[in-house]
Amino acid sequence: MKEDKELYICRCEEVTLREIEQVIDEGYHTLDDVKRITRAGMGLCQGRSCSKVIARIISQRTGIPIEEILQVKYRFPVRTEKLGVFNDGEEPQT
Ligand code: FES
Repeated sequence: MKEDKELYICRCEEVTLREIEQVIDEGYHTLDDVKRITRAGMGLCQGRSCSKVIARIISQRTGIPIEEILQVKYRFPVRTEKLGVFNDGEEPQT
């Protein structure tokens, strides 16, 4: 069976199998790498539809176990705080 390289893997961002394989072949072997370069997983569904498929493609192409690829790396949200929060509520003198 011939693979359809123009098949959309990420339908939200219209990223094809060919684009994902190209990025993997360039040495990017994590979901985050593929996401940053192709935008796959950044669409409306936030990767719920495509992340596992992309992980499987990475795994098949690199031999990395899929469980390793799917390990979640949490990034806590960043928000600004007033400096006084770190100084017993007192504002720093300027
Ligand atoms: S299908 Fe990839 S982000 Fe929705």
